[in-house]
Amino acid sequence: MKTSLLSILLMLNALVLLGRPADTTYRQAFRPQYHFSPRVNWTNDPNGLVYHDGEYHLFFQYNPYGIRWGHMTWGHAVSPDLFHWKELPPALHEDDKGMVFSGSCVVDTKNTSGFGRDGKVPMVAVYTNHREDNQSQHLAFSLDRGRTWTKYEGNPVIDLKEKDFRDPNVFWHEPTQSWVMTVVLAKERKALFYSSKDLKQWTRNGEFSSPGGPDGIWECPALREIPVEGTRQTKWLLLLSLGSGMPAGGTGMRYFIGDFDGKRFRSDLSTDDVRLVDYGKDYYAAITFNQTARPLSLGWLNNWQYANEIPTTPFRGAMTLPRELKIVRSGKSYALRQTVARELRPLTSDSFQWRGFDTAELNKSVEKNKVQGDAYVMRLEAEPGREFSAVVRRGAGEETVVGYDPVRKEVFVDRTRSGQTAFSKDFAGRFSAPVDPGVTATGAPAGIRLEIYVDRSSVEVFVNDGQVTLTNLIFPKPESRGISFTGDGLRAVTIRNVEPVWPQ
Ligand code: FRU
Repeated sequence: MKTSLLSILLMLNALVLLGRPADTTYRQAFRPQYHFSPRVNWTNDPNGLVYHDGEYHLFFQYNPYGIRWGHMTWGHAVSPDLFHWKELPPALHEDDKGMVFSGSCVVDTKNTSGFGRDGKVPMVAVYTNHREDNQSQHLAFSLDRGRTWTKYEGNPVIDLKEKDFRDPNVFWHEPTQSWVMTVVLAKERKALFYSSKDLKQWTRNGEFSSPGGPDGIWECPALREIPVEGTRQTKWLLLLSLGSGMPAGGTGMRYFIGDFDGKRFRSDLSTDDVRLVDYGKDYYAAITFNQTARPLSLGWLNNWQYANEIPTTPFRGAMTLPRELKIVRSGKSYALRQTVARELRPLTSDSFQWRGFDTAELNKSVEKNKVQGDAYVMRLEAEPGREFSAVVRRGAGEETVVGYDPVRKEVFVDRTRSGQTAFSKDFAGRFSAPVDPGVTATGAPAGIRLEIYVDRSSVEVFVNDGQVTLTNLIFPKPESRGISFTGDGLRAVTIRNVEPVWPQ
């Protein structure tokens, strides 16, 4: 009797195990340790970024059934600090009307939509319903902090009978006491602006397009007002994702800075002034958070050229590090500055520090102290006009090189020998960003400062306090954890380990 009960239990256990995906931990070789990725399956764009009632919400394009793009659903995760995410059940599911494409989420504090009940504040998701022949804008709401959702029975709220009309980005515009939506006609490369008093009835206002620059389709717009550093002025930042033709190859992002009056956006930049949000190959679909005092953004760490082929399992796709956005005056014009959200700081701890002039000494010290790893942030300071590089994730035949070329005045990331690259002809390569170090307060030439964020399958570089950034995927062997340096420019190196944000 005893044995048969035990064997039944063992059999049941085996059946449960058989039915499960092989590995549901966060320990895989390419599993980001301090970036968000879904436990299993495919993700692309972040959606509906919003802060509400003590939680940051991250919704994300998700395929609940597989590891390639399809059955688009809004996955869901929440976090108290932008780093420790708890994945919840998916929020918005595909149905007989179509798939749930990208969009945004607002907290309707004044209950303008009337979705609120019994004093409960509605969260309202505004997303694109996708069918082969039509994309239109739909609403859904939640009265329990995003845990359960109801699709609005009056959907669609905007239908232009268009096939490529998507990615609504909605926020509350205080001066006009209206909701504002930016949404793109992807193939026409146009952003349209709508306004509404109740999120249900929308009026079409201005539109924005920009001739020149990379010729890809427009996707995932995001519009946000941002204070100009050191002034009492504000400017409006328009982020856009482009479906092809970026300098690093494939998809990527550009930005515009200008003014917005609630109906119309006017860019200050001349049409031949193409500003890239990131110079790496893997920065896409970033949007900003609603309901935060600080402007914060989050993107998808990938490129559509090979997103369906990257060699990760049992998940495919991850988010970038969350960024704080600033606008600074730069000569006669304005520029975007991006830094990693300060919430990362408490997750880091000192592991190595060096100051000096001799790179050979530095390498000896690194070797002697066995300094290595796959999840850390490295800060470098270099003298003006000198060459240097940091080699990370180094192992047998593998290396990823981050460096400065003083002749071309470029910071570069070379992932030619970074590990697995053969899954796509478009993956290997060297990507660079022009860097003008400028001068110090005393008029002397300024040096170069790099912050390099290394994780199990990515390297994100922030140059001179976020003047330019380069975000790239890499797929090295787990044992490729070495670090070394070249050139004669380095004067200071700090490495801080980052603790994993996932259960181990
Ligand atoms: C951008 C995008 C969006 C669309 C979504 C579909 O990566 O193509 O335009 O809404 O992905 O998953």
